[in-house]
Amino acid sequence: MKVARHREGKTILFVPKESVTVVPPPTSPVFFNPAASLNRDVTVSVAAASGGSKFCDAMAGVGARGVRVANEVDGVSEVTMVDFNHEALRLAKRSAAANGVSGKCTFAEAETTSFLFSRFGRDMRYGSVDLDPFGTPIRQMHAALSATADGGILSLTATDTAVLCGVHLSTCSRRYGSVPLNNDFHHETGLRILLGSLARYAAAVDVGIEPQAAHSTKHYLRVFVKVIPGASVADASLRELGSVAWCPGCGDVRMSLGHEGACRVCRRKVKVAGPLWAGSIAKEPLVESAKKAALERGLGGAAEVLGSLDGVNGFPPWSFDIDKICSALKVPTVSELSVYNALTKGGHRVMRTPFEKTGVKTDATRAEVVEAVRSASANPAGGPRVSAPRNSSRARS
Ligand SMILES: C[S@@+](CC[C@H](N)C(=O)[O-])C[C@H]1O[C@@H](n2cnc3c(N)ncnc32)[C@H](O)[C@@H]1O
Ligand SMILES: [Zn+2]
Repeated sequence: MKVARHREGKTILFVPKESVTVVPPPTSPVFFNPAASLNRDVTVSVAAASGGSKFCDAMAGVGARGVRVANEVDGVSEVTMVDFNHEALRLAKRSAAANGVSGKCTFAEAETTSFLFSRFGRDMRYGSVDLDPFGTPIRQMHAALSATADGGILSLTATDTAVLCGVHLSTCSRRYGSVPLNNDFHHETGLRILLGSLARYAAAVDVGIEPQAAHSTKHYLRVFVKVIPGASVADASLRELGSVAWCPGCGDVRMSLGHEGACRVCRRKVKVAGPLWAGSIAKEPLVESAKKAALERGLGGAAEVLGSLDGVNGFPPWSFDIDKICSALKVPTVSELSVYNALTKGGHRVMRTPFEKTGVKTDATRAEVVEAVRSASANPAGGPRVSAPRNSSRARS
């Protein structure tokens, strides 16, 4: 295997040469994806903000994440990188040495779940555990929970986005015990299904979760949760689960009451997604200090991802796509800003959704959003101007 020296953040990484020249990068003999740098930038920022001193990169590959955390986060004093791929760990060791952080790093050539389950002792657990598998993290979830310290952070990547976002219903039901939606807000639904499934896994072993941050970027979904032991916290987490009833006919959406059949607007049969995490999805102080940590490190993309979560907890767990509403109404596209203005004028709160390429989150009903689109379309100036909610111009890939 030819090896290239690659820089990411402030860290030098040794990676397979082909991984930086071929898209998508080969998975064999060793996998490294330069396109996941934003994912790692956010990890570095959250690690800097969360204050844990022991970090476990439980599916480390070439150690891009673990070596970056060791090198870029002073507060982390120990990083363990786990992978069953010998060649991958060889590169991770070389990268740790090149950055002068070998003393902080340990490497375990092991199977992830057996390694994590072996760390069940209180003094052996990690302040942060990260799971970054190919596909679903469900296989490693229990083990990762058991290796996370009380009050520690568990972070998960899921790349089975098509499953969580509603393309493969039966797989989602089998894997996550939940029904997804393939619609305008499917990434948010997918993130909330992942969190809901984690909450149920955790509750089974008397552990509660508190989501800290979540993002949906490119091909993956990503969540960070605080792990809090205790039967009552676990019960409280379960009370955050709910379902969303969405009408494929007119797009009306609301929290499911558990017995709806026909849409309240058009009488078509609604689709019910869930169970999913309906509660808070971001922890403001953590997100704010992670954003600050990102800015201090020149990680602008991560700061933008984290900043986009500002205020998200105050909204229902869905969003509306203005372009799609314009096409349904057969009117020319209107700007999101003009719809914000119309909704705000009508007394509604509104923000750009952090989770989809386009769309707004609001406390208004779909019918009220449609009215706002009509009024913006009839009066493109949009009435008196209010400034766009933060991050309204954020273009996501
Ligand atoms: C998506 S890659 C990790 C990428 C890495 N976290 C990064 O940010 O560059 C997944 C890694 O998990 C490893 N892996 C998959 N299943 C595993 C298992 N059961 N035990 C140990 N390692 C495993 C693979 O060898 C691969 O290196
Ligand atoms: Zn309807």
